[in-house]
Amino acid sequence: MKKLVVLTGAGMSAESGISTFRDSGGLWEKYKVEEVATPEGFEANPGLVLDFYNQRRKQLYTCQPNEGHLGLAALEKDFEVYIITQNVDNLHERASSTNVLHLHGELTKACPVGDPYTVYDIPPGKDLQLGDTDPQGRQLRPFIVWFGEAVPMIEPAIRQIADADIFVIIGTSLNVYPAAGLLGYARRGQPIFLIDPQEVHTCRTDIHFIRALASEGVRQLTRLLKEYR
Ligand code: OAD
Repeated sequence: MKKLVVLTGAGMSAESGISTFRDSGGLWEKYKVEEVATPEGFEANPGLVLDFYNQRRKQLYTCQPNEGHLGLAALEKDFEVYIITQNVDNLHERASSTNVLHLHGELTKACPVGDPYTVYDIPPGKDLQLGDTDPQGRQLRPFIVWFGEAVPMIEPAIRQIADADIFVIIGTSLNVYPAAGLLGYARRGQPIFLIDPQEVHTCRTDIHFIRALASEGVRQLTRLLKEYR
């Protein structure tokens, strides 16, 4: 089977009711990035940051995978599909995609401050609070890659894209590095599809744009991919 690698961003989950970041009305209009998505913000006001992610986790439990997530999972019948997501939700997994790499962490997980390699599940319905510690007594924080922090999963993501037969990008403004730089690892001649309702500026001219929301875009993509099976 051909290897299909898909990079997703916030637009992938927009139709599930999860806000994007940079669209009008997006999360970064309502919150200050430096207050809720940096290690300095957490140090200055950990309660605010824990509350921000507790709210987002609560909201996630009210959301369902959309037709786009389900369509990508269905492509596993015909392709070896690898999802690389910038999203911290678990909607790809809940849609039954089997290979999902999270570049920016996961809302349903926690790690001790200073140790992003030890990861714990947050039980459904439970908030993360100041004073919640791991068995070694270390304060737990959201397992989210904040601005200014290393992105440990970037190397495996680069390897998957360099090794792909087909590369697809869905619902990302390609504003945030290193994720945005992943496009540069797609080989020349490798078919590249980009699904987004808005124009997305890239440095490449070999991209097939599908100007649509994720659900409709994945339907069109599925039809187009028939010739590559
Ligand atoms: P952005 O909010 O920057 O971009 C969202 C993209 O999704 C835009 O290009 C929209 O046009 C598109 N979009 C909106 N609705 C859509 C829909 N229904 N279907 C398809 N596309 C749609 O989000 P990201 O690029 O994912 O990181 O942002 C990257 C990172 O910046 C995030 O992972 C997050 C954020 O700060 C951290 O918090 C560390």
